[in-house]
Amino acid sequence: MQPYLIAPSILSADLARLGDDVKTVLDAGADVIHFDVMDNHYVPNLTFGPAVCKALRDYGITAPIDVHLMVKPVDRIIPDFAKAGADYITFHPEASEHIDRTLQLIRSCGCKAGLVFNPATPLSYLDYVMDKIDVILLMSVNPGFGGQSFIPATLDKLRQVRSRIDASGFDIRLEVDGGVKVNNIAEIAAAGADMFVAGSAIFDQPDYAEVINAMRQQLAS
Ligand code: DX5
Ligand code: ZN
Repeated sequence: MQPYLIAPSILSADLARLGDDVKTVLDAGADVIHFDVMDNHYVPNLTFGPAVCKALRDYGITAPIDVHLMVKPVDRIIPDFAKAGADYITFHPEASEHIDRTLQLIRSCGCKAGLVFNPATPLSYLDYVMDKIDVILLMSVNPGFGGQSFIPATLDKLRQVRSRIDASGFDIRLEVDGGVKVNNIAEIAAAGADMFVAGSAIFDQPDYAEVINAMRQQLAS
């Protein structure tokens, strides 16, 4: 297991003053910025693209940016996000025609590559590509919107993925996204996650540091 990372999702940030809100959440102790890219095609919502990622870099954001692609097709936008300053790029296997190729493309662009599993997506997509993966992201809600409730079946899926990662011997992060809160982060960690996306839990509160510190306290207990 690697050190825990807390990754606020800017889907729930104040988009009218995004740069300042991202700085505030990083000053409050966030480790990574989670950047949800939705295309109104693969998922029923529309968010932001590489220009916004680059704008954050130009604004002086140096923290790792975790780009979660909920788009179809995926390949053609990957080099653009790499140039725009992404560190992690993850995609949904259902949205790629050639999963192995897409994973290789992400790494060839200099980014960490990952697969995202919807709540009902089978883990068999991992079967032949563990050596090409830096992060596995388990969705604990159906993708498209912030503020949904954590789906409890994710806990068992996390345990299965944790076993597969440990058995593989590869250095792979296990990320969870959707409905992560102060009151469930401990059991999510106990199931094997080491990277936690949280949107509404952090940005809907006035004091981000209070929430992030409470999450860290839960993780330490
Ligand atoms: C949902 C997104 C999530 C979302 C999480 O499709 O991938 O990153 O912002 O939001 P919360 O933490 O509010 O469930
Ligand atoms: Zn996400």
